[in-house]
Amino acid sequence: MALTQLVSEEEIKEQRFFTQRVRAVTHMFDRIPLAYTHSYGCQQNVSDGEKINGMLAEMGYGFTDNPDEADFILYNTCAVRENAENRVFGNLGALKHLKNRNPDLIIAVCGCMVQQGHIADRIKKTFPFVDLVFGTHVLHKFPEYLYSIFAEDKRVFMIPESDGVICEGIPVKRDSDFKASVPIMYGCNNFCTYCIVPYVRGRERSRAPEEIISEVKGLIEKGYREILLLGQNVNSYGKDGSLDFKGLLKELDSLEGEFKISFMTSHPKDCTTELIDTIADSKHISWHLHLPVQSGSNRILKLMNRHYDVEKYLSLVDYARKRIPDIQLTTDIIVGFPSETYEDFRETLKLMERVKYDSAFTFIYSKRSGTKAAEMDDPVSEEEKGKWFRELLEVQGKAGDEAYKKYVGKTLRVLCEGRGRTDESLYTGKSRQNIIVDFNGNEQHIGKFVDVKITKALNWALVGEINE
Ligand code: SAH
Ligand code: SF4
Ligand code: F3S
Repeated sequence: MALTQLVSEEEIKEQRFFTQRVRAVTHMFDRIPLAYTHSYGCQQNVSDGEKINGMLAEMGYGFTDNPDEADFILYNTCAVRENAENRVFGNLGALKHLKNRNPDLIIAVCGCMVQQGHIADRIKKTFPFVDLVFGTHVLHKFPEYLYSIFAEDKRVFMIPESDGVICEGIPVKRDSDFKASVPIMYGCNNFCTYCIVPYVRGRERSRAPEEIISEVKGLIEKGYREILLLGQNVNSYGKDGSLDFKGLLKELDSLEGEFKISFMTSHPKDCTTELIDTIADSKHISWHLHLPVQSGSNRILKLMNRHYDVEKYLSLVDYARKRIPDIQLTTDIIVGFPSETYEDFRETLKLMERVKYDSAFTFIYSKRSGTKAAEMDDPVSEEEKGKWFRELLEVQGKAGDEAYKKYVGKTLRVLCEGRGRTDESLYTGKSRQNIIVDFNGNEQHIGKFVDVKITKALNWALVGEINE
């Protein structure tokens, strides 16, 4: 890991200074000013959102779920598909009347979408009521930008190009008090040809293992029961450092206490039998592997630049099922990649029938400007792709039907998360396999592990009764 990517102590101190300056401003309000923030996209963006909220809290803001009563509104955006971007533009447009009503309202947009120059320009021109736009590489400078809006009363647009940095010590306001996301690396070097992420998130960079271990240790001591390790490709964690991903997992698994470790995302090209062994031999790691295959056609996988073929993928699946018979496998699939034919698509269906995923996140290909796939011929109509997509959902729907029946009569250890999903009178949680389990719990169970005897299997969840 190149140390130069670390944000220096000096810079962090500078941001603390701006935090205090903003705090002095918010103290002069006649009530605690309220922030409304929303993060779109993946868990990593949500994790950035928790840092933004942490910085806002230190700057003296309270929080609201209602944009109508907010003094500060921020959208932390995602660029992965066009509809994600359209939603942000739509929601931004709707804020105009709030700004008209309250000219002191500050509106900010950050995240992956605005890291693209053409989007930042569009916001500058089309949404004059947006005060602050900042890219993914300068998240830690948010206090400085917010202060300059108060001090200078002019719009701030900060989208520097960068390979990315690592900034330790940003305050975090976590959304949950028993589940915590912990980024272990940032960025992506894979350049899958359809994907915008490497362009908006910079190059792969791993946090130092000591930082991660001490953060996780602190979280467990505070009572956190589920730790979700995040990276676009966690298997390439620490590539140029001393500890690789399975080494990190082993270290974390050796910590004291009852807790669960999950991770995402694991790229099949770097997923190894040793990683699967590490999960199998662990005490705390979830029996769940999210292994996005994207396509079941080797021709398309090659065009996608995925660096594995169906045979390697299936051998990993078979090994995982052999070592951990209860493992839950989930995936991501793209339908209608440029030049994909119905024959290619049928290969994907075949793979889905063979693997029988517990669940699959399925997407219709969305053209992202600047990526290689955007230059490729894409002759299949959206209508046709829509038909394929529905066919895929049907095949996936059937795959899940039988999968959970084997749990009926068994007792699973479940981390209770809140109110039920199948029935409001029940409580819900997830098992070590990360399967949703609803049961007859109560408020006191939230954030705790309980043993649940399974009485019924649905195709997306289990239902059971608590054993106390
Ligand atoms: N790093 C993760 C994926 C992050 S993006 C990985 O490599 O698996 C999450 C999912 O969005 C991807 O797995 C892919 O299925 C989907 N996706 C990414 N770009 C897309 C695009 N241009 N069109 C449609 N789906 C896309
Ligand atoms: Fe995108 Fe591929 Fe990187 Fe995942 S691994 S973020 S799909 S480029
Ligand atoms: Fe979206 Fe950025 Fe995540 S593009 S999927 S929010 S890394």
